[in-house]
Amino acid sequence: MSRLRVACVGTGFIAGRHLSALTGFDDVEIVAVADAVPERAADTAARYGARAYPDGSALLESEELDAVWLCVPPFAHGPLEAAALERRLPFFVEKPLASDLATAVQIAGAVREAHLVTAVGYHWRHLDLVHQAAGLLVETPAQLVTGHWLDKTPPVPWWSQRTRSGGQVLEQTTHVFDLARLLVGEVDTITAAERTASRQHGDDGDVPTAASALLTFASGAVGTISSARILGRRHRVGLQLVAEGRAIDISERGLTDHELRVATATGERVDQSIQDPISREDREFLDVLLGRAPHTRVPYQEALRSHALAWAADRSAREGGPIRPDQQI
Ligand SMILES: NC(=O)c1ccc[n+]([C@@H]2O[C@H](COP(=O)([O-])OP(=O)(O)OC[C@H]3O[C@@H](n4cnc5c(N)ncnc54)[C@H](O)[C@@H]3O)[C@@H](O)[C@H]2O)c1
Repeated sequence: MSRLRVACVGTGFIAGRHLSALTGFDDVEIVAVADAVPERAADTAARYGARAYPDGSALLESEELDAVWLCVPPFAHGPLEAAALERRLPFFVEKPLASDLATAVQIAGAVREAHLVTAVGYHWRHLDLVHQAAGLLVETPAQLVTGHWLDKTPPVPWWSQRTRSGGQVLEQTTHVFDLARLLVGEVDTITAAERTASRQHGDDGDVPTAASALLTFASGAVGTISSARILGRRHRVGLQLVAEGRAIDISERGLTDHELRVATATGERVDQSIQDPISREDREFLDVLLGRAPHTRVPYQEALRSHALAWAADRSAREGGPIRPDQQI
């Protein structure tokens, strides 16, 4: 059987999850990896029997590939997608699409023109629990939405600088904004505020320590989505929805640890999931490339709307006033 030749740019935490999923598929060959830290690329290449490159552009220039995974930090997007587009090479890219909106809008335009197969790592959409919740909301739509990403500050060096990560709202809470769009629909307006307090244990950057956004949805639903990064560990990451007679709570404790709680007048049902959504999103992308699935569920254009929503929340907090997210793209 001929195997799909794939590569990965960025060999940090999330790349490790993708590479480990990809090695589990017998129709895939990992031929090359790249990282701006050459030793990291070399270690990962040795582990997977691949070639190592110190930068993604060199990799894309040298290798014959069927697809590439782009698992770099937010600030590094732009040139890698441009290089993939130039070669008409399908790409899987991790969220967020970029540390700003303009870069993502530009890439989206080029992807649309090229009709390129893409997929974006909004992995919650690959969970059965989320589809269970969507099914319930067809009967009784959500009227109130409350979302949270209340956590510690991630230890990676680029995260605490807003120009590099885009900030918590764009980098982490974007998953919650994406889930809200999936389950409640498009957002009409968003108004947000943020706080940047000095930390007790040394200053670790300029990303706001807390932020909160007030949303009105086209459906009429209203809600808030809040972020904080000053805890010792993850406290609450998820989305709570209130519909007529039913409260739905979806939460994530880790990449393979999710929970759905549905409370009604007669009691509460709790479903736990240990599904690996990273492996599922990778498999779906490969199946589309192989012609076994019609399309990826989160192509670049779809992800752009979620990115624009998170960007609107961040922008409103910085600049003040309400923003209509879709008018930005
Ligand atoms: N879907 C999810 O739930 C999820 C989870 C974690 C991370 N992510 C996303 O994945 C991305 C990477 O996060 P991470 O936790 O793996 O970070 P990380 O810091 O662990 O890894 C990023 C790697 O990219 C390398 N790098 C930086 N610039 C590069 C460039 N121009 N070319 C090649 N390599 C470069 C760094 O040296 C580093 O090894 C982020 O956008 C993050 O939001 C998504």
